[in-house]
Amino acid sequence: MLKANDFEGRDVISIKDFTREEIDFILKTASRMAPLVEKGSDLLRGKILATLFFEPSTRTRLSFEASMHRLGGSVIGFSQPGVSSVAKGESLADTVRVVENYADVIVIRHPLEGAARLAAEFAQVPVINAGSGSEEHPTQALLDLHTILEAKGRIDGLKIALLGDLRYGRTVHSLAYALSNYDVELFLVSPPQLRMKREVLKDIKGKIQVVEMDDLTPLLQDLDVLYVTRIQKERFPDPLEYEKVKGSYRIDKKLLESGREDLIVMHPLPRITEIAPDVDETPQAWYFKEVRHGLYVRMALLALILGAIK
Ligand code: NCD
Repeated sequence: MLKANDFEGRDVISIKDFTREEIDFILKTASRMAPLVEKGSDLLRGKILATLFFEPSTRTRLSFEASMHRLGGSVIGFSQPGVSSVAKGESLADTVRVVENYADVIVIRHPLEGAARLAAEFAQVPVINAGSGSEEHPTQALLDLHTILEAKGRIDGLKIALLGDLRYGRTVHSLAYALSNYDVELFLVSPPQLRMKREVLKDIKGKIQVVEMDDLTPLLQDLDVLYVTRIQKERFPDPLEYEKVKGSYRIDKKLLESGREDLIVMHPLPRITEIAPDVDETPQAWYFKEVRHGLYVRMALLALILGAIK
C-alpha cells in the first residue's frame, strides 16, 4: 500500500514517472487540501520554494506561490531570466546548484525540452517541472484530472476529446499520458499539421482506445469532456506554418448546442480565440474553475514532496 512518505524527496518531471495508484493518491491528497485554501495552514512553515521561470507564466507560477503561502511556507525566485545571472551566461546546471542552497524545493519552467530533467539531475533538492518546452507539463495534467473528478465523479468510462495544438502543446502531452492509466476513450482532434506528437501517440495507443480526427462535429453529442488548447504560436519553427493553421478551430455557444448538457469544456488557459467569450456564461464552461484545482494539486504535491504529510 502506498503511503504519503513514499513521495518525500521525489522529483515531478514527467507524469509518466507516476503510476495510476500514485496519481490517485495525489488527487485524494489534493481534495484534502481544498479547505486549507480558506483556512490556511502551517504545514510547510519554515520551508522555502524557489521558482525559476525562464518562460512567461501567470497561473502556474502564481499558483505554486499561492500554494506555498497557504501552507505557511515562503517563496523566492525569478520570473524573468534577464534579471538573474543567466543573463551573464550562467548555465542551468550551475544556477540549480546555487539555488538548492537557498530552497527546499525548486519549480522550473524552461523553453527547452529536457531542461527540467537536467535540473533534477544536478539538484540535491526535489525539482518540479512547470513546463519544459513542448514536452510536458505534469502538474497541469494533475489539476486537469482533479477537475474532471469534481465535474464527473470519475475518470474511468469517460469519452474525452483533446482539441487543438496537439503537436506543440505540452499540457495535452502530459494529459494524454495521464489519461492512458484510466479506462477512457480518447479522441485527438486537430488540423493535420498539429496532430499529436508521434512519440506520445505510440506510448498511449497500446493502453487505451485512441482515435485521431480533424473535425469535432460528429463527436460532440457523445462527449463527456472537451479539452481545448491554444495554438502555440511561439513554438512554430516557421511563422508561415502558423499562418496556415491560425484560427482553424473555434468553440462557441451555438456549436455547444449540439453537445450533451453535461459536457464540460476545459482549457489550460491562456485562451486566445479558440473559445468564444459567449461560452463563458454556459454551464459547460469549466476552464476558470480549473484554476482553483491548480491550488489543491500544487498544495498536495508540495506537502507530499516535502514530507509534511505522514
Ligand atoms: C499552458 C502552458 O504554459 O503550457 N499554460 C498553463 O500553464 N496553464 C498552456 C499554454 O500556454 O497554452
